[in-house]
Amino acid sequence: MIDETRQSGTILAIESSCDDTSCAVMSGGKILSNIVANQDVHKNFGGVVPELASRAHLSHIVPVVDEALKKAGLKIGQIDAFAFTRGPGLLGSLIVGAQFAKGLALATGKPLIEVNHMEAHILAHFIDEPKPDFPFLNLTVSGGHTELVVMRGPLEQELIGQTLDDAAGEAFDKCGKMMGLPYPAGPAIDKLAKEGSPVYPFPDSKVPGLDFSFSGLKTAVLYFISDRIKENPDFLEENKSDLAASIQYTIAKTLVKKTLLAAGKEELNDIAISGGVSVNSQLREMMRSACQKSGRMLFLASPEYCTDNAAMIAMAAHFKFLQGDFAELNATASPRLKRESAAS
Ligand SMILES: Nc1ncnc2c1ncn2[C@@H]1O[C@H](COP(=O)(O)OP(=O)(O)OP(=O)(O)O)[C@@H](O)[C@H]1O
Ligand SMILES: [Mg+2]
Repeated sequence: MIDETRQSGTILAIESSCDDTSCAVMSGGKILSNIVANQDVHKNFGGVVPELASRAHLSHIVPVVDEALKKAGLKIGQIDAFAFTRGPGLLGSLIVGAQFAKGLALATGKPLIEVNHMEAHILAHFIDEPKPDFPFLNLTVSGGHTELVVMRGPLEQELIGQTLDDAAGEAFDKCGKMMGLPYPAGPAIDKLAKEGSPVYPFPDSKVPGLDFSFSGLKTAVLYFISDRIKENPDFLEENKSDLAASIQYTIAKTLVKKTLLAAGKEELNDIAISGGVSVNSQLREMMRSACQKSGRMLFLASPEYCTDNAAMIAMAAHFKFLQGDFAELNATASPRLKRESAAS
């Protein structure tokens, strides 16, 4: 339970679960700074290379934390608690943020807060206005996850649907790689699709209920491209925009259909979407129109809080701070961390 009488403090949060090193400072539930250092080193590999990611975190973490404190106008001694992403994510990447936060907590004698990255992606909706009311339905669409979650309270999150194979972001990235686009391909597909039409009818996911599957789309796109290239070697170059529009439309249609199905089943009126793919312009548009038609409210976070960022970790830590939910100094990174509150 959140203790409303408990004072919220000043929290420094670190995010390092994948390939972005980020630090945010929050005071009284308000973000004072949110610094993100991206890693360009993965661009030519078609995906994140774990070893390179942890090495880049090591070189980014000190300047990123330093800049976050400077931008917030605070000194380390003014921080009341240190938060870090415990998981899920890449072990070598998570360890950098976890050890750094533990070092700060040990040196200052201030409490440590561990945060589940997937819980935090959803709590990004509480950084800015308008904030959804509980209960609401959240669709998280990121590079590694596609999840439908009923939010009963900030830390009472019930998972009701998820992908059985690839995540939506992975589908964008893998299809983009087949099209010769650099990693991550989601933003480039979004841009290309604006100049094209969804003329190629790729198959919908056949998974019943509230789960997802995107591996069939990936295979369909692979065979489609190689068949067309056999007939016309310039097919990709000449039809990139239509291909991007067709892939994007197929993914967005499935996401909207399953989200509305879940909202109906759970009788929820408020819908929020989070994670990097939630920035996608067509997904936002189709979800907006579906919500309008069914009389539901849609909540979209600011794009800077959709992809990986420490502001969302600070937001989750703020709720844990109010509960007095602190971690031990021997807390470890957990690459496959599950939701604590995934009660069914
Ligand atoms: N405009 C866009 N359209 C489609 N996809 C996008 C867009 N912008 C970003 N993405 C996708 O978002 C994903 C990255 O999102 P995010 O940073 O939330 O994922 P992640 O943190 O790597 O994964 P997870 O949180 O599951 O560990 C990438 O797959 C990227 O292609
Ligand atoms: Mg993420």
